[in-house]
Amino acid sequence: MPFHSTIISSGSYLPEKILTNNDLTKIVDTSDEWIFQRSGIKQRHIAADNQSTSDMAVKAAQKALESAGISANEIDGIIVATTTPDQTFPSVAVKVQAELGVPVGIAFDIQAVCTGFVYALATADNFIKAGQLKRVLVIGAEKMSSVLDWSDRTTCVLFGDGAGAVILEANDSSDTNDRAGVLSTHLYADGNMRDLLYTSGGVSTTGDSGHIIMQGREVFKNAVNLMAAAVNAALDENNLTADDIDWLVPHQANLRIIESTAKKLSMPMERVVVTVQNHGNTSAASIPLAFDEAMQAGKIKKGELVLFEALGGGLTWGSALVRV
Ligand code: ACO
Repeated sequence: MPFHSTIISSGSYLPEKILTNNDLTKIVDTSDEWIFQRSGIKQRHIAADNQSTSDMAVKAAQKALESAGISANEIDGIIVATTTPDQTFPSVAVKVQAELGVPVGIAFDIQAVCTGFVYALATADNFIKAGQLKRVLVIGAEKMSSVLDWSDRTTCVLFGDGAGAVILEANDSSDTNDRAGVLSTHLYADGNMRDLLYTSGGVSTTGDSGHIIMQGREVFKNAVNLMAAAVNAALDENNLTADDIDWLVPHQANLRIIESTAKKLSMPMERVVVTVQNHGNTSAASIPLAFDEAMQAGKIKKGELVLFEALGGGLTWGSALVRV
């Protein structure tokens, strides 16, 4: 029987501690005005010292399970997109599995930085299409505060911590025409641009995780062009135009990038989900966080067409078109 995957629920979690732009002026030479004008960010959430990426991932996953009304033993796959795992190994995914009591199945992490959630969603969708998984927890979770240089004002003002999750379920593809579910996914990477955004360390080089180093202007330019190209790939494959899309849920890195991409696609901002002001750039967590917020607020409604798009270190980028 042919299968396709449907998003049956979502959940998200943001740590309690809020760091405002004004709070940041006590740490580095910056201002609320500079940060807000350049990025649209007003505040970010910061995990407690003893709170790990898996702790946040578990909380987001629990909410997704509650919202779907299913128990952990009905899950057979867990894919966590993260660039800030608790440990080098084991994966965050197996920790989530043990914490939630998910039975023996498939569990692993994906590292595609800010594009991680789109990569994870595409991977889960392909497992489902292949008939190998039935219900997959797809999570984006990050403790970006742990890879920031808190004396570097060009990067530390942009990022935050959090987690978001969706549950993908296998459905029989033969029974409906205008079916809900993941319609197509489009993934890209170009390692020649790896020096635009990276960390200064790693386990097999310096022995520590290092700090984020970024060529902001170059990242900005590529983000607008490549995310628009990924969106166009999804539209072309499905014979759609931007007018057919109900909601664009972009990676929440920076309001100016989001606005420029929307403009390039001629999409009015009224149909773009924006949450970056509340939590900054949470890397792989940002799309599921934004999606969940829009779902909980009743903005995105059943049957609507939603387009996810992201770009991150690597560079990696991609899109996913979903009817919810
Ligand atoms: N507060 C005050 N001043 C600052 C700060 C700060 N936090 N950071 C930099 N400045 C200063 C610089 O030192 C510079 O001063 P100078 O002119 O005296 O040398 C001035 O502001 C301008 O710096 P630029 O780097 O040229 O500023 P720009 O307009 O390019 O904005 C920004 C920087 C916001 C990083 C922008 O390039 C950007 O949005 N890039 C995209 C980066 C991004 O979102 N990355 C996230 C990861 S990738 C992704 O998720 C898509």
